[in-house]
Formats: sequence, C-alpha cells, structure tokens
Amino acid sequence: MFDQLAIIGCPRAIPEEVQFRMWPEVTEQGEALVLASLRQDRHAFGPHAELLQSEFATWNGNRFCFATNSGTAALHMCVAACGIGPGDEVITPALSWTSSATCILHHNAIPIFVDVDWESMHIDPAAIEAAITPKTRGILVVHYWGVACDMDAIMTIARRHGLAVIEDACQAVGATCEGRKVGTLGDAAAFSLNQNKNFTGGEGGLFVTNDEATFIRGKAVSSFSDMRPPEAGREYHDYGLGWMYRTSDLPAAFALSQLRRLDATNAHALRNWQSLQRQLAGTPHLVPAFHTAERPTNGYAYVLRVTPETAIDLDVDLSALATGIGAALGAEGSRFSRANWLLPAHSVFQAKNAYGGGYPWSAAHTRPDISYDLSQYPSRHSNTRHHPHPAGADSGTEACAPRADRSRSAHRHRLGHRRAHGSCHPRLLRSGFPFGRALRLCPCTTGHAAIRDRSRRCHPAGDTHAHVSGPGRWLLPAPGGRCDDRR
Ligand SMILES: Cc1ncc(COP(=O)(O)O)c(C=O)c1O
Repeated sequence: MFDQLAIIGCPRAIPEEVQFRMWPEVTEQGEALVLASLRQDRHAFGPHAELLQSEFATWNGNRFCFATNSGTAALHMCVAACGIGPGDEVITPALSWTSSATCILHHNAIPIFVDVDWESMHIDPAAIEAAITPKTRGILVVHYWGVACDMDAIMTIARRHGLAVIEDACQAVGATCEGRKVGTLGDAAAFSLNQNKNFTGGEGGLFVTNDEATFIRGKAVSSFSDMRPPEAGREYHDYGLGWMYRTSDLPAAFALSQLRRLDATNAHALRNWQSLQRQLAGTPHLVPAFHTAERPTNGYAYVLRVTPETAIDLDVDLSALATGIGAALGAEGSRFSRANWLLPAHSVFQAKNAYGGGYPWSAAHTRPDISYDLSQYPSRHSNTRHHPHPAGADSGTEACAPRADRSRSAHRHRLGHRRAHGSCHPRLLRSGFPFGRALRLCPCTTGHAAIRDRSRRCHPAGDTHAHVSGPGRWLLPAPGGRCDDRR
C-alpha cells in the first residue's frame, strides 16, 4: 500500500478531475427562502431571523434563542449572560478554537486553562476542580469535534462550587450526551453557523438558554446596549457597554433553509463518519476517532491520530511526523490543514495583553499570579507561531515567547522547505507507515487532517492535532471503493 502513495510519485488517490461537493448544498427550497428574504423590506430584526430563532429553539429543545452574526459573538453573549465580569475566572480547555477563550477576555474576565483528557480531547473533569479559586465564576466546556463532553461529571463539579456552565457547542449541533442535546445541558450555549459546520448560513451563530434572566442578560450586550426589543420601541439609551451581534435577514434565511434539512445532513455526516471508522478499523498505528454510546458524534469531524508510540518507534520528531503525513495527504489531493490549537501558547496569553497595557490581566480586580506557563499543560507547543501584537509595542510578546518556541521556528522553517519540495520524512517513508491505506480506502473523502500526539508527555495538543472535517461534503465510497455522490 505504502509504495502506491502519490508523495513518492504514484497517481493521486483523489484524481484531479474529482470535484468536491459544494458546501452547503443549496436546494430549491433554500433558494426560495433566500429570495423571499431579499424581496421583503425588514432586513434588520427580519422575519427569517425570527423564524430561525424559534425553529432552532424548538429543534434543540431550548426555551430561548437569539441569532447572532457568529459563534464567537454568541459565546461572548453566554459569558455576559452568566454574570461573569472583570477579574472573574473561567475554566476552559487548553485545546480548542481560540474563541473558546477569547470570548472570556471580551468581558474582561480571565481564562484559566486546564488540560484535556487524551482519549476524548475534552476538558478533563478531574483537572477542573484543582483549577478552582475564590475568583472562579464559570466553566466553559467545548464539545470538541462534534462529541459532547462528559457533562454529568462537569455539572456535578459546577453545582458543588456554584459555578455557571457555558457550552461551546459551535462544532456539535445535534450531538447528545445520554440522549440530551448539547446546548440544553449547561446554563447557556453557543453554536456556530460558519461554513465548515454541519449547519451553516455562511457565517452566523446562535445563543441559547433555558433561563429567561440569563437570556435577557445575554441579549443586553447584543444590540448596542439599548435593551428594549424593537416592538417595545427603541429608547436609544445605553445602559452599559454593548456590541452589535445581530444577524441580517438574508444569512438567517439561508441558515433557516439549512436548519430544515439538518436532521438529514447530520445523518449523512454520521454515515460518512461511520464509513471511515469501519474502513480504518485495525489500521496499525491509527487511533480510532473518539465517541461512545452515551456520547455519539454528530459526524462533524473524523479525527485522525497516530499512536504516540509510532513516533517513538520511528524515532521521528512528532512535528515532522505530522508534517510528513500532512504532505502525504496533500499529495493525494486531500484538503489538508493541521490544527494548532493549544490556546495558552498563543501570543495573547503568553504576553498577557489583550487590549494593550496588559489588560485585563493588569487590572486591579484580576488575581496577580495568573500563569500560562506551558509546562502546566503537558502538551507539545512546538508549532506555535509568535506574531507581532496588535495592541502595540508594550505587548511583550517576544519577551514572553518561550525559548523553545524560538529555536523550534528554525526547525519549522527547514520542515517547510522540505515540504515545499514535496518530500516526506525519510524515516516515515521507509517505515511502511500505513496511513496511505486510509487514503486508498476512502479515496473520495475530503476535509482536512492533522495529527495529534502524546509521545513525549502522554498528552495531546497543539501542533500535531488532527481532524477531517466537513463530512457533509464527503462523497461516500461505495462498496467496491468507487465514489458515490448520491445522497
Ligand atoms: C469550538 C469552536 N468555538 C467557537 C468557534 C467560533 O465560531 P465562529 O467562527 O462562528 O465565530 C468555532 C469555529 O470554528 C469553534 O470551532
């Protein structure tokens, strides 16, 4: 199998002429809804946004829903909704998309990262309790890669300590925990409608909760801070600091059309996910994607991971291994990207400066001894890039960049050079590493992939983390290995 890989000059598994499915799919009903939105004259506070809110609330089992212009905006609304404010601490996983932590900063509160559990890649409930301080007000959990967190364990801890629970359900629409949908399990939740999600309006988000007071507090930051609903007449008076998070009617109409077919989309994504799971079963070195009977996936992403021992056995640097596998995937015609989502390694946290002047960490109400020392997260951070800080020269970014990162960057540069020449790590090439089998077995899947590791310290994160996403777009491999793009 390995000697058939495109990276060593063989034909691509995904031929050039294969067209990836357009995502999201646009149906006649979808076009009709978008046209109906275009041909009416309420584009702000529009009728399709109202329908999106009420139909999603019904679909998901929430009492309240507000349609936003992004998942990030909905997350910030959750933070405000839970009464979290300046200097308050919110515990969140070290591994996620940046918005899971920056939404906390948006309200001048402080993210406290805890490591993830390697098997699930979710926040480790066992690590949460140790991170609680007198300043802790909430826990922001992430239903990562379309699988719900262990919510029973998390809610038990939260209730014991009187903490609010925010669900970042941006990747996980329709995922369940013991039969209950994500977004109904904590105090408030956010979904993303960004294009690479199962449920999309191009861009957009949804803020949901079952508690009226929570809903009102969240909404208070969403439309400037003029808190009256339009039907009550605008007051044009700000009660505090507000943002502008509303969506417009057109993307809401598009999202509404996708919502009405979401059950079918999720079922299709799940079939593709299961197809990969079946066909990759037994592949040496490959760790099957995480899910359990109690916490089934919504099919959003298929996470590809190699066993940590693989890199040790091959004596290959994990970053190089991931680079090599990525290069191999790319050569086959797969859309590829490697996630680098070890959040505390990002410059904003290393510099402890979000707004300039060291805010909010330098503020009087913030605990002075907040540390983002990466050794607290037994994870690799070797691919972290350090960018100039937009807040200005006082950011201290360079000074805070760990030495290891700086020395690694030269190494990365060399890897990049090698990749540019289309080659792969020689040890990997020689090893008979069976990843090619995945490519050959599922030749028409698309999405992106990256590889996660735990070789050095038996924990995940950062540069070698992996996923294949956008399964709604996949063309199902038919029995016999041919592509079948019928739905
Ligand atoms: C886990 C997670 N949280 C938050 C977001 C932010 O959503 P949006 O891009 O809609 O702002 C994303 C987006 O990919 C995400 O994956």
